Amino acid sequence: MAKPLDVSLVPTPAYVLEEGLLKRNLKLLDRVQKESGGKIILALKGFAFWSSFKWVREVLHGATASSLHEARLAKEEMRKEVHVYSVAFTDREFPEVLTIADHIVFNSFGQWRRFKPQVMAARKASEEAARAGSGKPARYVSCGIRVNPGHSEVKTPLYDPCYVNSRLGVTRDEFRPEELDGIDGLHFHAHCGNDSDTLERVVASFEERFGAFLPGLKWVNFGGGHHITKEGYDVERLIRVVKGFREKHGLDVYVEPGEAVGWRTGTLVSSVVDIVRNGMDIAILDTSATAHMPDTLEMPYRPEIRGADEPGKLAHTYRLGGLTCLAGDVIGDYSFPQALRIGDKLVFEDMIHYTIVKNTTFNGISLPSLCLWTEDGKLEVVREFGYDDYKLRNG
Ligand SMILES: Cc1ncc(COP(=O)(O)O)c(C=O)c1O
Repeated sequence: MAKPLDVSLVPTPAYVLEEGLLKRNLKLLDRVQKESGGKIILALKGFAFWSSFKWVREVLHGATASSLHEARLAKEEMRKEVHVYSVAFTDREFPEVLTIADHIVFNSFGQWRRFKPQVMAARKASEEAARAGSGKPARYVSCGIRVNPGHSEVKTPLYDPCYVNSRLGVTRDEFRPEELDGIDGLHFHAHCGNDSDTLERVVASFEERFGAFLPGLKWVNFGGGHHITKEGYDVERLIRVVKGFREKHGLDVYVEPGEAVGWRTGTLVSSVVDIVRNGMDIAILDTSATAHMPDTLEMPYRPEIRGADEPGKLAHTYRLGGLTCLAGDVIGDYSFPQALRIGDKLVFEDMIHYTIVKNTTFNGISLPSLCLWTEDGKLEVVREFGYDDYKLRNG
């Protein structure tokens, strides 16, 4: 049994990832891979806390990157398959991406046309080197096209990849079957926190539009947004859909969740710094909604706080505000069983995915430290941030 986090040990503000919770998610993802025959790779855009990759790489097939820097991180720290999809590769970055990636997914036929000569030259050079006895097997870069499957059930427009006039993925009307020479796979991403019944409908829409082009390909990537590790997610249906698709089409299937890997794997621990009044009690914390948990404002959503409830439910209600001078840097109103005091620690639940990767040094406030809480009850402070992290990105 993993030991529960001892909050008193945590220097604040800090994100604390718990080994036991991450391993619980990985165990479920492992079962999905084994029973469906599909391959799961981690989407770094949602979860890139690489000190924990020593556990992730034991289970998942690799990582997917959306940029050169994420691709480098995948290669250096995950050290398994590196997949890269970018909305648009630039001439400056693409040559290096090509030296790192095992799979490259293009967002348009225009991009494929632009970079195909480099891909073909790299494939040829590596074959020739292998033939000439370099000792290394030929490195084959497998390429795909992202398509718009024409169906999505994402309710928040900011996160819906298939909104009207979306720039993400080739629509059926724009699809160029005559340009598929050299392409091995198709990719779609049309989910955001959805269950597998949605996947079933998206796959049906994808097959209706693009099924005719599957013979001759090697793989299809079902993208991310599958909330696999959330309580109540229909895992058995996911297994059925992935297995059924693989068997029907004879293709490898990849799934690339970010959120589902980092889901409920840890917390953001902060301290009360001041308490002020303006018609109600307002506690100022050493964290920030906008700088440290931006999705609470972007999505928006109300984070859970350990031991707290809706305003008015428990004896003492506070508005919780962040350290930046943004007027709207407010996390929400919460009630607590006891009055808050300066120095009290508050624990925000589920703060590992889409937080660390999106945080900023706005107002020069400190970035939260990164900590691991091991199964045997040790706190490792993996990284602390200081003045240089602020200064170097501003001049
Ligand atoms: C192409 C692609 N793949 C995977 C993901 C990961 O999605 P999630 O973290 O919701 O699983 C995203 C998220 O935006 C994405 O755009």
